[in-house]
Amino acid sequence: MKIAIVKERRPHETRVAATPETVKKLKALGAEITIEAGAGTVAAYTDQAYSEAGATIVPDAASALAVGDIVFKIQRPMTAEEGLDELGLLRQGQTLMAPLGALTNKDLVQALASRGVTSFALELIPRITRAQSMDILSSQANLAGYKAVLVAANNYGRIFPQMMTPGGTLAPSRSFIMGVGVAGLQAIATARRLGSVVTATDVRPATKEQVQSLGAKFVAVEDEEFKAAETAGGYAKQMSPEYQAKQAALVADHIKSQDIVITTALIPGRKAPVLVSEEMVRTMKPGSVIVDMAVEQGGNCPLSEFGKVVEKYGVKIVGPANLPGELPTDASALFSRNLLNFITPMVDKETRALTINLEDEVVKGTLVTRDGQIVHPSLTQA
Ligand code: NAI
Repeated sequence: MKIAIVKERRPHETRVAATPETVKKLKALGAEITIEAGAGTVAAYTDQAYSEAGATIVPDAASALAVGDIVFKIQRPMTAEEGLDELGLLRQGQTLMAPLGALTNKDLVQALASRGVTSFALELIPRITRAQSMDILSSQANLAGYKAVLVAANNYGRIFPQMMTPGGTLAPSRSFIMGVGVAGLQAIATARRLGSVVTATDVRPATKEQVQSLGAKFVAVEDEEFKAAETAGGYAKQMSPEYQAKQAALVADHIKSQDIVITTALIPGRKAPVLVSEEMVRTMKPGSVIVDMAVEQGGNCPLSEFGKVVEKYGVKIVGPANLPGELPTDASALFSRNLLNFITPMVDKETRALTINLEDEVVKGTLVTRDGQIVHPSLTQA
């Protein structure tokens, strides 16, 4: 079992799919690890540290991918047009474990199938208790939620906590967190730690108690539709236009008094819902800050721009390009452990080879291509 790790080359990417710690643990499982030189440098993992952990360092991506029969990645493979032809360097019989955005990047999935690559899409890991330690979406969203608050604080011309000074008292900031999944919960906790007065909203009723248990106030239209607005998988449902209008009116009123707004609302497989309209931004106080964590999926605020801070009506609107990537060391550490926990149950203890059990719920949920075919039910039924 030979595992290859390459330097991630997509814009704004700083993370790496293995750390010296996971290299040691993968070796203990019976794997040989090959890493492209400099793959972990930006995340503060040196070639020397990988070497000392037992990995072989090779000069370029092609050399690493030529050796590995399993490839770990942080981002889906690039094409030649995007920079380096990582896709072209993958070969028949190789196994790729990476987030692929498989439900939206259908051409990529087809290309992987055509090349005979076995691929696992890590964003599809089922949200079951056993798979929590493998869940890359949660581990990265958690860090992103924390960082979003710090980004907001850095763009805000005032302080977060109430401060009593001999010169007078400064009032605490008011933060409003929209969307209370993994990122939103961490954003609430972080904003509270900094001393902000925090409110939060979500369409899933289960979040009300979670918000309150973190010491924040819950703000939402709690009608019959709201009470049923959660899928069996724990995700949000698309809400009716009537509900959205009622919720928007409530939010419009609330947002006027807020200093910091952090939006995290996503619906899997769809464009992010618009929660903060231009009209709402216009009513906000000058100097307020919005961090739109959904900017990559189209944004929760139509004014946000990917990778930029824009100022409109005196409000700064931040559209972060890669929040976990702004914490490369910890984000890589957690992502790498997720990968280690994902592969460990697939390694046969006797033969120390990768064995894919097609009956396993995690395998079924994530396997997208195999033997030249697209095999994931969500893609074959489409
Ligand atoms: P996400 O990133 O898909 O969405 C973020 C949040 O936005 C969600 O809470 C969603 O309800 C909310 N949202 C969507 N539309 C909205 C709207 N119009 N207005 C306000 N909020 C809106 O969600 P994430 O963070 O991936 O978590 C989803 C759920 O999965 C949570 O309940 C989480 O606790 C659960 N989960 C379970 C795991 C497990 O059991 N293994 C692991 C990770 C998460």
